[in-house]
Amino acid sequence: MLNIAIRAARNAGDIIQRASENVGQLKINFKTQNDYVTEVDRMAEQEIINVIHTSFPNHGFLAEESGKQSGDDYVWIIDPLDGTTNFLHGFPVYAVSIALQHKNKLQLAVVYDPLKDELFTAEKGGGAMLNNRKIRVTQPNSLKGALIGTGFPFKSKKNLAAYLGMFSALVGDTAGIRRAGAAALDLAYVASGRLDGFWEIGLQPWDMAAGILLIQEAGGVLTDFSFKDQYFQSGNLIAGSPKMHQLMYKAIEPHLTDNLR
Ligand code: IPD
Ligand code: CA
Ligand code: CA
Repeated sequence: MLNIAIRAARNAGDIIQRASENVGQLKINFKTQNDYVTEVDRMAEQEIINVIHTSFPNHGFLAEESGKQSGDDYVWIIDPLDGTTNFLHGFPVYAVSIALQHKNKLQLAVVYDPLKDELFTAEKGGGAMLNNRKIRVTQPNSLKGALIGTGFPFKSKKNLAAYLGMFSALVGDTAGIRRAGAAALDLAYVASGRLDGFWEIGLQPWDMAAGILLIQEAGGVLTDFSFKDQYFQSGNLIAGSPKMHQLMYKAIEPHLTDNLR
């Protein structure tokens, strides 16, 4: 199954890279405020689904652009192009994200960065890899010196004040905060130790499914803002090594409004 997922991700990456040469000619549609989709997102998604469906005709899908397709106990969770806004601006940070759940438990994960040809993979119980080399989360003892990834709540302003509180609690006490614009890659970077931690409000399952398994298999922990594992329901995520997660949670907690808990 992992091999099929990798083939699907690489094929999608080829479609994205070919299209990146003519970004100016792409037709762009708005889904909701600040949420864009192009024919590249749709073509890449269709390719991923075709590759997987050919091998596993009974499996279900939850894909960003085409939605839910029910099947047996297996569900593929797909973000064909994570970082569409970056892609449209030629800002070189975007990736393909594919995860597989069996009876609601994550089984495998692939995040593929076609620009760097970096392939992050994980299988439940089998560890996490970057281009076939084992990766681990970092083990910092304090926020001091830590590099933290995040995403801004740009689609809806309702959590902006709470977010800015969290941001100011962390920005002064860490080495820095990065907003690169592709959550799947942010999470893959936590898994591979390029970032020490990550938090974001309002993610969708396809943004985070693969990244979650990558981090778990790399020795990290993830929770929602209630210290539970209901992140697919809330979309809110804090991630890092057990210690980093705890330190970040402490900094974030005082800024939570009732709707975020
Ligand atoms: C977006 C990216 C971004 C995150 C947004 C997502 P998209 O995904 O992951 O980093 O902040 O919440 O929607 O729309 O480019 O696939
Ligand atoms: Ca996404
Ligand atoms: Ca997307």
